[in-house]
Amino acid sequence: MSKVAIITGSAGGLGKGIAKRLGEDGFKIVLHDINKEMLDSTLKEFKDAGVDSIAVVGDVSKREDQFNLVKEAVDAFGQLDVFVNNAGVDVVSPFLEIDENQLNKTFSVNVNGTVFGTQAAADQFIKQDTKGKVINACSIAGHESYEMLGTYSATKHAVRSFTHSASKELAPYNIRVNAYCPGVAGTAMWDRIDEEMVKYYDNMERGDAYKQFVDGISLGRSQEPEDVANLVSFLASDDSDYITGQAIITDGGIVYR
Ligand SMILES: NC(=O)c1ccc[n+]([C@@H]2O[C@H](COP(=O)([O-])OP(=O)(O)OC[C@H]3O[C@@H](n4cnc5c(N)ncnc54)[C@H](O)[C@@H]3O)[C@@H](O)[C@H]2O)c1
Repeated sequence: MSKVAIITGSAGGLGKGIAKRLGEDGFKIVLHDINKEMLDSTLKEFKDAGVDSIAVVGDVSKREDQFNLVKEAVDAFGQLDVFVNNAGVDVVSPFLEIDENQLNKTFSVNVNGTVFGTQAAADQFIKQDTKGKVINACSIAGHESYEMLGTYSATKHAVRSFTHSASKELAPYNIRVNAYCPGVAGTAMWDRIDEEMVKYYDNMERGDAYKQFVDGISLGRSQEPEDVANLVSFLASDDSDYITGQAIITDGGIVYR
């Protein structure tokens, strides 16, 4: 029987790339996003490509939505094997201007979302009494803290910490919890980061912030969703069964740990 994977925030960007790869790996795919229009069009693409898939609209920051997502997946496909906590949001702001709304929004999606997703997935894995894998979107910003990205960096450090503690608590249930830490991928997220960052520097134009980050990559190019999907595919596979509690960097050489 094919395994089943849920990927949150998979209507576009890295999540869509991950979902595509896991579909190629033979998983039944549960697409998920807060953006219904994008999600519908991605589901059509997957169906046209012959991937056995469904789509569920939801907000990762709402615990109830996360449990509903798992229920919909199990109703459709009978089981769950992999849960990718991919959805995340960014915020660009100098430290002195970080406000309450930014903190609440970014933490509630990136951190609360990851916690609720892990709880919902683990609940199902324990009920099934099967091996389960939770795979979290961390970042190089979960290892380093960047200027103008203080809130975002703090959320990704929290994701790394929850990856560690959840992996320890869930190991007795045969559940692995790991994280992938991308570097600089030219998705909608980086469009927004670039747009916001250049506003704060007089000598910068649109595209410059992104270019500056990419210029610092040892392997000399920005990241593609496929690069991230390669790591997630491994973490979702049996080949990574002896790995848990790790936040693995895939960045072409920016941050060295
Ligand atoms: N792009 C990068 O360079 C990069 C680097 C490191 C880490 N990451 C992380 O990878 C993940 C994916 O990033 P991306 O670049 O594809 O971002 P993106 O903004 O391109 O896509 C994120 C998707 O998540 C969805 N989403 C946002 N809030 C949601 C919510 N509350 N509930 C459900 N869905 C929601 C969006 O609609 C969107 O489709 C994020 O967690 C991000 O922090 C990205």
